[in-house]
Amino acid sequence: MKLPSHGTICEVGTRDGFQIEPDFIPTDLKIEVVDRLSDTGMPRIEVTSFVSPKAVPALRDAEAVMAGIKRRPGTRYSALVPNDKGAVRAVDAGVDDIHTVVSASESHNLANVNMTIAESLAKLEATAQVAHRAGKPVYSGISCTFGCPFEGDVPLTQLEQVIERLVGMGARGIGLADTTGMANPAQVARVLEHVVPRFPGVEWTLHTHDTRAMAIPNILAAMEMGVTNLDASIGGLGGCPFAPGASGNVCTEDLVHCLQAMGIETGIDLDRLIETSKRVQDIVGRALPGQIVKAGKWTRRYPLPDGVRERIPAR
Ligand code: COA
Ligand code: ZN
Repeated sequence: MKLPSHGTICEVGTRDGFQIEPDFIPTDLKIEVVDRLSDTGMPRIEVTSFVSPKAVPALRDAEAVMAGIKRRPGTRYSALVPNDKGAVRAVDAGVDDIHTVVSASESHNLANVNMTIAESLAKLEATAQVAHRAGKPVYSGISCTFGCPFEGDVPLTQLEQVIERLVGMGARGIGLADTTGMANPAQVARVLEHVVPRFPGVEWTLHTHDTRAMAIPNILAAMEMGVTNLDASIGGLGGCPFAPGASGNVCTEDLVHCLQAMGIETGIDLDRLIETSKRVQDIVGRALPGQIVKAGKWTRRYPLPDGVRERIPAR
């Protein structure tokens, strides 16, 4: 495999994950999780979202969370916004980067943000203006890039048109999101082969969900195409409340473990990350899908059963 020497992880668990938790997570615990994630050396954290509190009541405390976190130099703190109202709130709350959302599928965009794609793009024009006036880079995520749970296939031309509009608004990065885990590695390579050369200078991110156990294979396919920005969620928390069948993102510690095992640098302290994942399990009150928390790292060794050592033939 031809893989890059480093990967840049953006932790999205406190947004993509906490947004769908059935019980409201108290603000001080959200702050604690963000601070623990910062302490692992995490380079990017999507802290929360500035959306309608009626649409996503779980994140109604976005301002308080942003105000309470410790800002570690070296970590960039962002939030997701669907419109200019959200961008104004995010800028006032002091985010470093603005993350926007629109879907490549009309049905999912209507279900998610109650707008057609064209209406969303108009709101995102206004959003970009707010961000640029405040000097904040915009990273634009595109939901259902690789398929929609309502419509199925999303034509590449449709995806390309959305990217073109977002790039035209001055987006620094484009996040290709597999919202309900429909992508496969061959498809990820095909889509990237198509779009990457058409939009030079764009920072690409792959946002995966592990709904069908293809998240890490998809990430490796994207990395082989040169994509190094990867969204992931602590413990594998996550899911879109407005996409049926959506489940957690790729698990951050499992992904960091995989990259580290292959010698790919992330700048993240894996042991601290695993401790953070255990703490998040305590907070949400259930086991999360991550595997490394259960299995331990690949370097884990077990004591030999009695009587085996003496029988190992000398070499
Ligand atoms: N932050 C806070 N409140 C917001 C807001 C924002 N970014 N955008 C709109 N609102 C408020 C409006 O002020 C209005 O409030 P009011 O009822 O007190 O007057 C209300 O929400 C409805 O506004 P409207 O523009 O008519 O929006 P809508 O009801 O059609 O909802 C969205 C559109 C985009 C605001 C809403 O669907 C949303 O926030 N979706 C978030 C989806 C999400 O986070 N999905 C998961 C992540 S991909
Ligand atoms: Zn997601």
